Amino acid sequence: MTTDTRGPAPGRSAVVLALRHYGRELLRLRRLALPALLLPAVGNIGIRYVAPLLIAKLAGQAADDGGLTLGRALPYVLGFGLTLLLAEAVWRVGQHCLNRVDALGMEHLYVSGMDELLAKDAAFFHDNFAGSLTKRVLSFGKRFEDFVDTVTYRIVGSLVPLVFGAVVLWSYEPMLVVGLFLMIALTVVAATPLIRRRQRLVNDREAAIARVSGHVADSLMNMETVRAFAAERREAAEHRGRVADSRRLTLRSWDYGNLRVDTLIAPMSVLTNVLGLLVAIAFGGPGQGVEEVVVAFTYYSNATQIMFEFNQIYRRLESSTTEAAQFTELLLDPPTVVDADAPAPLAPRDSGIRFEAVTFAHAGAKPIFRGLDLDVPAGARIGLVGRSGGGKTTLTRLLLRMSDIDRGRILIGGQDISLLRQSDLRSLIAYVPQEPAMFHRSLRDNIAFARPGATDEEIRAAAAAAHVTEFADLLPDGFDTLVGERGVKLSGGQRQRVALARAILRDAPVLLLDEATSALDSESELLVQDALWRLMDGRTALVVAHRLSTVAGMDRLVVLDRGRVVEQGPHEKLLAADGAYARLWRHQSGGFLGESTGPSVDGDGRVDGDGRDDGDRRDDGDRRGGGPPHVRPRRESSGPPSEEAARSAP
Ligand SMILES: Nc1ncnc2c1ncn2[C@@H]1O[C@H](COP(=O)(O)OP(=O)(O)OP(=O)(O)O)[C@@H](O)[C@H]1O
Ligand SMILES: [Mg+2]
Repeated sequence: MTTDTRGPAPGRSAVVLALRHYGRELLRLRRLALPALLLPAVGNIGIRYVAPLLIAKLAGQAADDGGLTLGRALPYVLGFGLTLLLAEAVWRVGQHCLNRVDALGMEHLYVSGMDELLAKDAAFFHDNFAGSLTKRVLSFGKRFEDFVDTVTYRIVGSLVPLVFGAVVLWSYEPMLVVGLFLMIALTVVAATPLIRRRQRLVNDREAAIARVSGHVADSLMNMETVRAFAAERREAAEHRGRVADSRRLTLRSWDYGNLRVDTLIAPMSVLTNVLGLLVAIAFGGPGQGVEEVVVAFTYYSNATQIMFEFNQIYRRLESSTTEAAQFTELLLDPPTVVDADAPAPLAPRDSGIRFEAVTFAHAGAKPIFRGLDLDVPAGARIGLVGRSGGGKTTLTRLLLRMSDIDRGRILIGGQDISLLRQSDLRSLIAYVPQEPAMFHRSLRDNIAFARPGATDEEIRAAAAAAHVTEFADLLPDGFDTLVGERGVKLSGGQRQRVALARAILRDAPVLLLDEATSALDSESELLVQDALWRLMDGRTALVVAHRLSTVAGMDRLVVLDRGRVVEQGPHEKLLAADGAYARLWRHQSGGFLGESTGPSVDGDGRVDGDGRDDGDRRDDGDRRGGGPPHVRPRRESSGPPSEEAARSAP
């Protein structure tokens, strides 16, 4: 997760795109949106302008020669009550529609926002952090409510009644209208630079708040590390500092609003009201004075409210569109891995895989593959080995089309994968990634994710084959146990076994295993390998492993180094060739080739030997209990044993 979930200030095109999305929602919901936007304004006309007009007329009557009698007052009183009642009713209907516009609009935006993210390619998620994306996609939906409410209540709800008021005032005295609009315009012109300045202070404040939340998220996510380094006080001090900073900037922006902006607007508003009264008195004809003064007073005092709201309208519209734009800017660059316009129907000849002159570079990096060729015949079991960073994981991800290659072709069953629908391609592959991720769902759901609709028996069979059942039965709720965020409640080896159970359940013709058993102890690996060998039967398998004993029994081993295939062939042949593979093997076996320490391969290509990982992985020194079925240990050692071997020696 990023430490700053706020994201940078979005550009103009992102703001335009956000407004277009929100506008499109209003258009889509126009049958509800039109009454939602207009009815509160109509209600406001009744409450703010028609009812006071009736009171003004009543006052005019009272000032008349005849004085006020109940008979003369009654129509006005009734009209006053009826107006307010109607206005309230209109408001309720408008609010009813607005609630629906808000809820339906947000629903659609939440859904379409997630759809946009689901369509993104893998590189996008490497460049954007989950925490930031979560906040942005949810704000995109949520801020629609603020946006529509501001437009409804504050803009349409104020401006439409103001126009009505202006028409009424005009009928009394055009100068009243001229004076009012002149003063409003003056105030807007005078206040705009202050509001802009305040906006900068608000931005500083928001950035300080984001720094607080970023640090809180970062600390909480790394709580184990904080504890392990006894850094609680340090983290608390950092937090205190950030909170104090945010308090200082918050007060500064509030004070600016209160002391600078409103101290300008308040006298302008007073002046406007006084001016209204003066105009009404000066221009009111004889006998019309009282009515006119009351109208001028109430209409002006209503209208000057807008002056105070101007600040808020600006702020709310700005913040809602800015937040929405932080999401829409993610949409400005379309996903790079997309389905072809007319995808080829899925009709693979078999499950063979071919990489033909593949060139690929991660964005902004040097090419990792330059004209790579690799042929994996249908049904073959290929072990992919080589130094860390050699490109093994990248190769498996290209086959899954997590990224698109720059040149060349990748074929599966004779079909170019770039012409297939991505979902079709991936339906052919059961994949176990190097670092399997878990959903915070039950163990059962995590396994069943590989094949929706799998029966409970199928799930349990896959779990049994991957040796998940052994530990699942010990969990508090068995298969219904929630595994924690990213699967933190499972050990690394347990997560791998769940990932293997997924692959088994997937039942796809191509198996793609990236270090699928690296976190298992030798005994568990032995058991799981057994299941894997059975699974590989009749399928094409590409198995990445650092622990060579895991893959030594495969039909062919491919040694990848710096994006090039430096060697390939069966285990024995590669040992005989005494090249890169033989060196790796020697290194892992902790002995010397040709001496009895070295592993050897039995008749059907399976290996006898003691494989160990290359040092940056688990200690696998203890293979005395027997290797996987294809690996039989022999340690009648003569060569110098490695450190691990020495430690594990009886
Ligand atoms: N998303 C990425 N963006 C940029 N470079 C990347 C990305 N992913 C991997 N790389 C780089 O590509 C190279 C190959 O990485 P890859 O993960 O394929 O190696 P690997 O052979 O699987 O290594 P390991 O055995 O350690 O898993 C590395 O140098 C790595 O830094
Ligand atoms: Mg890797």
